[in-house]
Amino acid sequence: MITYAGFDELIARVYAHRQDHVFEYWGELIDAERRELLNDLTGIDFEGLQSLFAQTRRSDAVAGEFGPAPFIPIPKTDGENAQRAQAREAGIAHIRARKVAAFLVAGGQGTRLGYDGPKGKFPVSPVAGKTLFQIHAEKVLASSRAYGVDIPWLIMTSIANHEETETFLEEHDYFGIRETLVHVFPQNLIPSLDANGSLILESKNRIFKNPDGHGGSLTALKTSGALDFLAEHGIDTLSYFQVDNPLVRVIDPDFIGYHELNTADVSSKAVTKAGPEEKVGVFVRFPNGACGVVEYSDMTHEQQHLQDCTGALVYSMGNIAIHLFSVEYIRRLTAGGAIELPYHVARKKIKSLRAGAPAEIDGFKFEKFVFDAIPLAERSIVFETGRAEEFAPVKNRTGVDSVDTAREMMSALFRSWLAARGVPVPPGVRAIEISPLLALGPDDLPADLTVPDRPDVYLS
Ligand code: UTP
Repeated sequence: MITYAGFDELIARVYAHRQDHVFEYWGELIDAERRELLNDLTGIDFEGLQSLFAQTRRSDAVAGEFGPAPFIPIPKTDGENAQRAQAREAGIAHIRARKVAAFLVAGGQGTRLGYDGPKGKFPVSPVAGKTLFQIHAEKVLASSRAYGVDIPWLIMTSIANHEETETFLEEHDYFGIRETLVHVFPQNLIPSLDANGSLILESKNRIFKNPDGHGGSLTALKTSGALDFLAEHGIDTLSYFQVDNPLVRVIDPDFIGYHELNTADVSSKAVTKAGPEEKVGVFVRFPNGACGVVEYSDMTHEQQHLQDCTGALVYSMGNIAIHLFSVEYIRRLTAGGAIELPYHVARKKIKSLRAGAPAEIDGFKFEKFVFDAIPLAERSIVFETGRAEEFAPVKNRTGVDSVDTAREMMSALFRSWLAARGVPVPPGVRAIEISPLLALGPDDLPADLTVPDRPDVYLS
């Protein structure tokens, strides 16, 4: 057994859990490298990993039965419109009372986009070429101005993109938001395991770990001290969104109002599925009354295609990863008690070091999903929104859910705002962009606006 002063207990645990292969290169390491390896091992929950490995042998079948979740529809009737107006008032009051903060999760790796850097730095807007970070920042700033309050902005990064994200935001002066209102923190990592349940060395003195998924954001709020930041600012509601959706309404008074009026722990936005085969999770209700999301891959073909007597899909409400969380609920969820988000297992190729040479091996990565917080909540609501208004995920470089489709959707949405205000768009206009600092919706557009006749128009 190897020895190192001050780490005896940790080293004994590594051996006791038969993970001592991680010391294979110990004899070749200098002191600083040995410490790095020991630091990597510190805090690993060996028992927890063992039970996660046992989980890799079980099929991830969905527990029990479920039916479609109830939801608040896009208002059509007078009654629904009146309810909506009431919710909006409640939401505006809550924002004005300085109770709401924006929470962006930006810790992903953006593999499908093939962009080597934080996804938020990717330019997506159709005319001005604004990055995702700038679009989100300007929406936070515009909402602050509209409601006359300072809205804090939390951003979760990963260890891999944290520094680059911070530098980018600093270089751009946080796009006009006061620096003390922006809180950037990295998410936690969890070791991956190889096909035998062993820890993986990525180099002679480092253990391979992966970010613990967007669900890890709730734990990271606690472990990073972000919950204290929220307490200092008196925030009780977090508006959660993901970096790759440039259409998201970062601060939505209607949604916030329903969340408040229902005293919900979690609220979620949903869009009608584009068709039975669309690969999004859907909102369901379990027999115990709790709502949740069941992933596309966990539904049978029959469930995906099931129709009601009008021919509409029964499981029609697609999850678009926009949520409101009560801060109190996040505290309960992360207090280390009985309720905790589960890990999901993904089989992945992992770059590692084997017998002194780099090798790509089969392994297991573990991730938490944020929507698993929904069934654990005492009260949750699902709120329908329009896809064209609020969901343009940038996942791929081209094709479906790509930069191209997001640009087209942004331009089409801005065109519809102008139409709603009766502002004519000359025939020569190809792409339109409206800055969040000019308008967050059609009602904010100046009535005397004129659109110039040129192919690319940026209104700011
Ligand atoms: P995706 O699941 O689309 O992953 O993340 P991704 O890493 O961005 O892209 P691919 O799958 O590698 O192509 C959805 C959202 O969740 C965040 C991402 O930053 C994105 O906003 N996320 C994902 C995290 O913050 N942490 C994670 O560990 C995973």
